[in-house]
Amino acid sequence: MKTLISPSLLSANFINLKSEIEMINQSEADWLHLDIMDGVFVPNISFGFPVMEAINKYSMKPLDVHLMIVHPEKYIHQVAKVGAMMMNVHYEACTHLHRTIQEIHGAGMKAGVTLNPATPISVLEDIIMDVDMVLLMSVNPGFGGQKFIENTMKKIRQLHDLILRSGSHALIEVDGGVQAETAPRLVKAGVDVLVSGSFIFKSADPLSTISILKNLPR
Ligand code: DX5
Ligand code: ZN
Repeated sequence: MKTLISPSLLSANFINLKSEIEMINQSEADWLHLDIMDGVFVPNISFGFPVMEAINKYSMKPLDVHLMIVHPEKYIHQVAKVGAMMMNVHYEACTHLHRTIQEIHGAGMKAGVTLNPATPISVLEDIIMDVDMVLLMSVNPGFGGQKFIENTMKKIRQLHDLILRSGSHALIEVDGGVQAETAPRLVKAGVDVLVSGSFIFKSADPLSTISILKNLPR
């Protein structure tokens, strides 16, 4: 399988959102990554449901929604309603993670669990069979353009072991600081989905940047 590419719209030019989405539509990207922040779980606020709904009208790519909010379980039906394909919730924000994962599936979406950089892989032991994806944060969530945290490479190896050992079919997605130097290493390490924001949207030719990420040797 080729690497799946999920450009993070957080680094797009919001004045020209329509043309940014059209660019993604024409690109080799597989998904569109949407970062929702509440100013409580993370020290930043991004955009919410009315904007997501508008994005979904133009996007031809499935929406990979990353909720950096407290109580994500309150919004499952709203996330489904705006047309999300994948709903990623943070392990650190879910008291009843198993129930939340079941409810996301019940609403017709794929379910992802997200880990902050300081959260160990071992917490996934009893949920790995139930999730479609694990999203490893390789920066502290809240902002685009941060430096990749190197310890993520070790977590990818540990997550691979857990997936093999358990027989889970979960995909591994990495988010934060994915750029020219880190992306080839992540692909070689067996990451299934790359999220990339500033590297794509701030590049001179985003279409070819996406193509380069998509075609990195595995
Ligand atoms: C950060 C977000 C990321 C962000 C990545 O909290 O979850 O998706 O947009 O940005 P880059 O690729 O610039 O590190
Ligand atoms: Zn994200």
